Amino acid sequence: MKEKTIFECKTCGHKEPRWLGRCPECGSWNSFEEKKGTAGNRKQNEHETAVSVPLSSISNKEEMRLSSGIDEIDIVMGGGIMKGSAVLVGGEPGIGKSTLMLQLAASVKTNGRILYVSGEESPGQIKVRAERLNISSENIEVLSETELTSIVNVLNNVKPVLVIADSIQTLHSSEIDSSPGNVNQVKYCTRQLIEYIKTRNIVLFLVAHVTKEGVIAGPKIAEHMVDTVLYFDHGEAGIRILRSVKNRFGSVDEIGLFTMTKKGLKEVKNPVDAFIMHRNLTGENKELPPGIATAIVYEGTRVYFVEIQSLVVPAKAGISRVFTDTTDSRRISRIAAVLEKHVKLKLSSMDIYVAIAGGIRVNEVGIELPIALSIYSARINVPLPPNMASAGEVSLSGELRPVSHMERRIKTGADLGIKRIIIPVNSKLKTEQKYDKFIAAAPTLKESVKTVFSRMSPGKQDTL
Ligand code: TYD
Ligand code: MG
Repeated sequence: MKEKTIFECKTCGHKEPRWLGRCPECGSWNSFEEKKGTAGNRKQNEHETAVSVPLSSISNKEEMRLSSGIDEIDIVMGGGIMKGSAVLVGGEPGIGKSTLMLQLAASVKTNGRILYVSGEESPGQIKVRAERLNISSENIEVLSETELTSIVNVLNNVKPVLVIADSIQTLHSSEIDSSPGNVNQVKYCTRQLIEYIKTRNIVLFLVAHVTKEGVIAGPKIAEHMVDTVLYFDHGEAGIRILRSVKNRFGSVDEIGLFTMTKKGLKEVKNPVDAFIMHRNLTGENKELPPGIATAIVYEGTRVYFVEIQSLVVPAKAGISRVFTDTTDSRRISRIAAVLEKHVKLKLSSMDIYVAIAGGIRVNEVGIELPIALSIYSARINVPLPPNMASAGEVSLSGELRPVSHMERRIKTGADLGIKRIIIPVNSKLKTEQKYDKFIAAAPTLKESVKTVFSRMSPGKQDTL
């Protein structure tokens, strides 16, 4: 059996088939040393050499990740970018995908090289953008190219640790007989690139344009092939939301928030500012319109406040229906049924509309109590008190169930000057929180409705 020679970086252990002056992984110079036999002897000695390793000695996951240098991206990706992973970044034209990618290229924590392949812009145009963003990193290489074989040739030379392909719609291979952006082209080029990066532990970011009218077929196919899918989207008040819709290496609950400034994308560190309608938390006791409730949401690792808006109107079709884009409609139907049965709120032959301000989607279970209060308020046409928020799960029996991280939710609420928080009894609280006067713990949905509405407008709910 022929002995195979490999070269290993003394600094980081990165392996290469040839000697290199500089490690593409960690950037060390003259760090490669020759190692013999690893590949060649493997088969022959397989049975004798198979050894287990202590679990405790296996390097932990964090070392398998690169920090993007941008907290919001790290959060969304589950604590950094997994090495050797393929990430699809989708969004409408103009949302800021290319800007985000260039900023990522400049800030990612690596000494290795980053290759930015653009099929949309010339190196000159990329340079103009980089200057605007104040980027002058030595380790970013730029390539304006769309043909796959040429790109792979450059990859072979540059040996980047991270490659960005902007965009997937412009990529094409001369091996495939169809135009760029065509499903077959997207499929082929994506597969080739993924294969390339997987065998070399490189990170791949693929940019994909997605129009408002719907997802284009090409990128949809790529979604199945990559490890992580991120979508960059417009939120309320100029906020741009980066969310993961698929992540093999982390949760998909996390979101990252940005604003576009004259000098690129800026992270929004305090998401509360982004989501809460300020009228709810101004500290003034301004009356709200009926149907508005504030929910304290815990998703991923963060607490934020969202405004739930409900509208209840007589059903046009005679049978009641539920409309919502921003949460699960089955959940709303269930809450409506509980309101009807256990709170005696008449909802049959009513259409129920529920929206979350800012168009964000929330699927956390704690949103059920605020949704119930919002629907109740809309139905009886009596507003909820200002500066009030709630969180809790509603069970079919009409009972309220505790939800996770109530302590943090309450603390954030208190910091923001919330005057009253409605929560389920048995919520896990710190001892000192239990005595906070602004917390009202209710055992059932009915009790919570009483607590909220009786003092506001006595007797009014009985008129239904
Ligand atoms: P871009 O990243 O090109 O969007 P995409 O790649 O998703 O199509 O940028 C989107 C918009 O952002 C563009 O209209 C110009 C604007 N912009 C700024 O406002 N500030 C900046 O610093 C940059 C680079 C762009
Ligand atoms: Mg672009």
